[in-house]
Amino acid sequence: MSATLINDVKTEFINTFKTEPILVFSPGRINIIGEHTDYNDGFVFPAAVDKGIAAAIQKTDSDVSTAYALDMDSKIEFNLNTLKPSKEGSWENYVFGVVAEIQNKNKVIGNFNIVFKGDIPSGSGMSSSAALENSVVFGLNELFGLGLSKEDMIFISQKAEHNYVGVKCGIMDQYASMFGIKNNALLLDCRSIEAKPYEIDFKDHQLMLINTNVKHSLSDSAYNDRRSVCENISELLDIKALRDATEVDLQKIANKITPENYQKALFVIQENKRALKASKAIEDNNLETLGSLIYASHNGLQHQYKVSCDELDFLVGLAKTNKHVLGARMMGGGFGGCTINLIAKTEAKSFADFASDEYKNRFDKACSVYFIELSQGTHLVE
Ligand code: GLA
Repeated sequence: MSATLINDVKTEFINTFKTEPILVFSPGRINIIGEHTDYNDGFVFPAAVDKGIAAAIQKTDSDVSTAYALDMDSKIEFNLNTLKPSKEGSWENYVFGVVAEIQNKNKVIGNFNIVFKGDIPSGSGMSSSAALENSVVFGLNELFGLGLSKEDMIFISQKAEHNYVGVKCGIMDQYASMFGIKNNALLLDCRSIEAKPYEIDFKDHQLMLINTNVKHSLSDSAYNDRRSVCENISELLDIKALRDATEVDLQKIANKITPENYQKALFVIQENKRALKASKAIEDNNLETLGSLIYASHNGLQHQYKVSCDELDFLVGLAKTNKHVLGARMMGGGFGGCTINLIAKTEAKSFADFASDEYKNRFDKACSVYFIELSQGTHLVE
């Protein structure tokens, strides 16, 4: 967590609103493996990171509320009783959505002011949106004594994303951001919403992210499309979610769906198994196996689920040419953002330099490299 971020929002809050705020930090996340499985009631393997959103927040006697996105120098006043979604793509939908979903649970809040700022690069696939939603709901719960549990809060954040932002996301991002544990990744069962923490120490290997710095614009609608394909196939199979399907079940209805959709459902079934196998590989300290599962995940995301893009495929392709990278794949919803790489510590810098040069030559733009630490979830900063 960056102390500068916290200081920035605190100082700005005091200058603007002339009163002391409470301070909340809510992290972004990585995901080791288990992509597009969360909304299929499956398994994911995320971890909160040391980048996120810092928020300064306090009640006000004023008859309006104010939200201030410090990064964008954008401020908006709003009335708690007449909330509706702003135009698509506006940052305030994350704030409005959380407030509206709190109200939908018949919880009463008064006016408040919030100043927030983040250091998760937008579009990087590290869930700056979940971090923002969680910081708002966590701060409001604290200020107005709403008595919400952390589990209540992540579902409020998720609904805000569904109903105000328009992305029918699963629960992985909000869970990881809220419940993150320092130095641990969480094997989360997205049906029971129970997670098993795994202390991550890959000894002479580490995780490294490379951001393509692209986000292709169709990603939100493609995401919702994928989700509805999965739901339709579950209905055909007469099961609650693809988590309950086997490859054999899927074969039985192959003639009722398109080959493209067959591959998508097959990907989900296989990816779910990979997430479980990855947890076993981590328990056994078998990094070669973990790495090949990660490469296989990318292969499925690229060819079966079709949520990758040239930039991501290029970076994973480079990783495959280097024997010190045990695994690499796109991370998050897809169509841009980061790759996650499992790489030998001694080789990380030189591979990062090599990949950056090659990427620049190929796409005439820069990629960015991040070394992350696994961190604590959403919390108050004293
Ligand atoms: C986005 C969503 C998550 C999850 C991932 C893909 O990050 O917000 O719920 O579905 O994509 O694994």
